[in-house]
Amino acid sequence: MLRRLHHEQPESFAFTPANQAWAEAQITKYPEGRQASAIIPLLWRAQEQEGWLSRPAIETVADMLGMAYIRALEVASFYFMFQLKPTGSVAHIQICGTLSCMICGAEDLVAVCKDVINEKPFELSADGKFTWEEVECLGACTNAPMAQIGKDYYEDLTADGLRKMLADMAAGQVPVPGPQNGRYAAEPLSGLTSLTDHESGKQQYNASAQLATDIGDSIKRIDGTEVPLLTPWLKSGASASAPKPPAEKARPKSAVQQDKAAKAVSKAKPKTEPAAKPAAKEEPAAAVEEKQPEVLTAARDGGADDLKQISGVGPKLEGVLNELGFYHFDQIAKWTDAEVAWVDARLKFKGRIERDGWIAQAAELAKKS
Ligand code: FES
Repeated sequence: MLRRLHHEQPESFAFTPANQAWAEAQITKYPEGRQASAIIPLLWRAQEQEGWLSRPAIETVADMLGMAYIRALEVASFYFMFQLKPTGSVAHIQICGTLSCMICGAEDLVAVCKDVINEKPFELSADGKFTWEEVECLGACTNAPMAQIGKDYYEDLTADGLRKMLADMAAGQVPVPGPQNGRYAAEPLSGLTSLTDHESGKQQYNASAQLATDIGDSIKRIDGTEVPLLTPWLKSGASASAPKPPAEKARPKSAVQQDKAAKAVSKAKPKTEPAAKPAAKEEPAAAVEEKQPEVLTAARDGGADDLKQISGVGPKLEGVLNELGFYHFDQIAKWTDAEVAWVDARLKFKGRIERDGWIAQAAELAKKS
């Protein structure tokens, strides 16, 4: 398959502060002169943040690692796990189309994706919430047919089940990952003959599904509200600028990696100091209700301000803002949270108003103009 950069690209890319700190910590894993080795985790983090890899994202990562842009582009375009065009705002559905899944009904799942999402793979659904593709064996053949959605596997799927899952996700719910036919894991359909501990009720789901449910970020975009990754190879257990985990919050029960990292940090400290505690998952911020800001039908007499002076606004975005009725810095400087949400919902690449600090920039520029 020909893998090229998408024909429409955002003006810029920046990691959120938390993701930036995470990325800088990753780079410290590698010896001097070998920073390029961090290319895949950094590209992956950028994709987790935005849903896909834009050219500015690839170039930002290349700059961070001191690599030529073409080298970073070679990596991004080689690995199929990197999405080079926008994916659904809720989820990208990866249907396994290899032997076991195909025998057990993958074609029916693909038919649902074509019907509900888009006739063509990698194309957005009408509401922009979903994209889909067919992928090679994902190693869950015993639970065929299956799909990877976000970070988790949904197994033993049926066409009707997948259709309902898509409707649930579109409505903001996250179906429990794992087998969808009542199976606990990959045991025979006739029932378990060993490893029957779960029957005592200690764990509701199998280990993978339990962890996914505990962490709760199956299809959530990575935005820095996640449990911070501890970096025991650094003195403080985290990058200097990385957010410190809250001290007293309970950690997710099954966060095995966090537990190991916390133990490593604890060992390295004198006994009198309390061990670092991993943070609990923070609640996602509540969605802000949208409110349309005051708009103009044309620029005021003195002519429109040059909105491109706002970092992150290029000629295309300036045109979009003008079309929406914004011509002056003082208009943008006055936006409330609800008004930012209204404008953001009308931009192709979301979250940039806050990320690039448009309002503060516009306020400064308004004072000068
Ligand atoms: S054939 Fe589908 S997971 Fe292996």
